This record gives sequence, structure tokens and C-alpha cells, in this order.
Amino acid sequence: MLLSVRRPFRILPPVMSKEIVVSGIRSTGFLHLGNYFGAMRNYVKMQDEYNCYFFVADYHSLTTHPDPKDLRANVYRVVAENVACGLDPEKVALYAQSDVPEIPELYLMLNMLAYMGELEKVPTFKDKVRQQPQNVNAGLLTYPVLMTADIIIHKAVKVPVGKDQEQHIEMARNFVNRFNNRYGELFPEPYPFNYSSELIKVPSLDGTGKMSKSENENATLYLADEDDIIRKKVMKAKTDSGPTEHNSEMPEYIQNLFLLMGLVSTPDVVDTYKKAFNECTIRYGDMKKQLAEDMVQFIAPIREKTKELHANEDAIKKILKEGAEKARASASVTIAEARKLIGINYY
Ligand code: TYM
Repeated sequence: MLLSVRRPFRILPPVMSKEIVVSGIRSTGFLHLGNYFGAMRNYVKMQDEYNCYFFVADYHSLTTHPDPKDLRANVYRVVAENVACGLDPEKVALYAQSDVPEIPELYLMLNMLAYMGELEKVPTFKDKVRQQPQNVNAGLLTYPVLMTADIIIHKAVKVPVGKDQEQHIEMARNFVNRFNNRYGELFPEPYPFNYSSELIKVPSLDGTGKMSKSENENATLYLADEDDIIRKKVMKAKTDSGPTEHNSEMPEYIQNLFLLMGLVSTPDVVDTYKKAFNECTIRYGDMKKQLAEDMVQFIAPIREKTKELHANEDAIKKILKEGAEKARASASVTIAEARKLIGINYY
């Protein structure tokens, strides 16, 4: 007699594959408020909803020829700062770009599809040519090509970045389309991402341009700044004697102060000072004192956590090693597909 084996009937939940996210930060110095609000704040939110790959762009940092002695500490610091800001290496792949050799391989392939004329027109390249005419290297020229490889090696569709990277991501879409048209559909188009409707540019404290790792340290708030330094920098931010007519137009440097306040202070504090501005009763000294204290409250815990993590080299090495394994598992699949489409499969 045949025995019929009754299997328990189970309805499996539909497999929902999460969208893929990639972003990177160069290891060129201390991270600042711009990095946090333009990029890292989004990373932390995205880690629960997406399949995330976040990396330290150490190859990109080589365009400025950092001292080999500093490179490792800088990479470790970026890892520590990311974790201190709330990134969980269990939930995401957190790795060093140079630990994934599939990235430079894809970069090489993409370089054959990138043209001198378009690379020379990139505003960030033109800025570098102006700023450092003695070091206009090919790595700077092909910077957006390496970025494209970083992103599409995992077939990412969302790239959390600040406003300054928007154009690079647009170029990535061009390179993706060129590859797909020539060799066959492999890569999705990546788009820059921010949780609010617009990409962010965190302004510098002196009212000229954005906060940046290398330019004007006194106008940049670093996540490693001590409390007194934060207070000093904020109190020195550019202001004037205040508006004399109700509901005046706000000068850009005052708008910037309000923007910074909006990032770290509570909405009612911001509203109080906005009202005071519109009624011509604002005292910028008081506003800056409030901003400085709210900034200290915001930065101090990140700074202290970073110090603790940075001191634990073993933990950072473990994060990087595990991150590299996760990243390579995904990158090796993509590079095999790219090779095949190009025709590099000889045995
Ligand atoms: P990097 O290292 O200059 O900056 C890291 C992230 O911080 C953002 N950011 C800002 N956002 C708002 N306001 C600011 N003042 C500000 N300053 C910096 C940047 O937009 C960035 O998101 N090329 C990239 C690194 C990179 C990358 C990638 C990013 C390499 N490959 C692939 C995304 C995907 C860079 O130099 O970022």
C-alpha cells in the first residue's frame, strides 16, 4: 500500500527584493555637518528600508596624493564616524572601495565609453584645474567614471548624496545608457536621493559656498569639534545689524544661519527667531548663542562615540572585512555579467 505523505500546506510571503542603495565618502579628513546632513543622515534612515552598500572612497582620495601614513587612520575614522552617526554594519555593507577589485575593473571598462570632451566639462573638474593647476591628473579627469563604477557594481538605483554630487550621478546615468546600448541591458539608471524633496547643500559659516573638508576650517563644523570650538565658530558666523523694515528679504548669510538652525534646533526655536527677524527685533548674538548650544548638543555625542570606536581598531577591521565580503559577493556577480556581455569569456 502506498503511503501518501501529506505535506503541511504553507503560503510563503512574496519575496520583496529591496531596492539597492550605494553611496561613498572620501577619506580625506574629518567629516563635517555637510557630510552628515547631505549623506549620512539618509544612510541611517535607509539602512532599514533598502539593501545598502556604503563605502569609504579611498581610491578617490588618492587624487590629492595623501601621505601613506595617514591613509589608514583616515579610512578608520570615516568608518568610526559613520557608525557613531547610527550606521549599523550588521544591516549594511560598510567597506573600503579598494577592498573590492571588481570596482577598478568596471572603471576600466567604463573608461572606454567616457569621452575627454565631456569629462573636461565637469564643473568639479574645472574647479580642480583652477585650484591645483600643478596636479591635474587623469584620476581627477575620470573621477565621475570611478564613481559610476562604485554605484553600478551593485546595480544601485538610489544614491544618497548632497547637492554637490548631483551632476556626477547624472553622468553615471549617461555611462549606464551607453553601456546598455552597446552591450545589452545590464545596469539600471541611478538617481540621487534625499528623504526631503530636494538635495541638500549645507552652507559654510562665513556665507561663502558650502561646508567642505578642505576649504576654510573655521567656517566648517566638524563632527570631531570640541564644544568650545563649536561655540567659537558659530559665534563668528557672518551677520549684520539686523533688518530695519518688517518682513525684509533675508540676506543669504542669514538664511544660511536659519538653515543650520533648522537642522539642529527644534521647530519652535526656529519660529521664534524667524518671527523676531520679521518684526525687526532679532538679536543675532542671541540667535547664535542658541544655535551654538543646539549644535553642541548635536555634535558632542557623535564626537564622543567616534572617539570610543576609533580607539578600537580590531572592531573597525572586523567591520571592514565583513563589509568587503558582502560587497564582493554582489560585485563579483555584476562583473561576471559585464565581462560576458563585452565578450570577455574565453574558457
Ligand atoms: P565627499 O567625500 O566630498 O562627501 C561625502 C558626502 O557628503 C556630501 N556633502 C555635502 N552635502 C551637503 N552639504 C555639504 N556642504 C556637503 N559636503 C559634502 C556629499 O554630497 C557626499 O554625499 N565623490 C564623492 C564620494 C563618492 C561617491 C561615490 C558618492 C565616490 N564614489 C559613489 C556616491 C556614490 C565625494 O567626494 O563625496
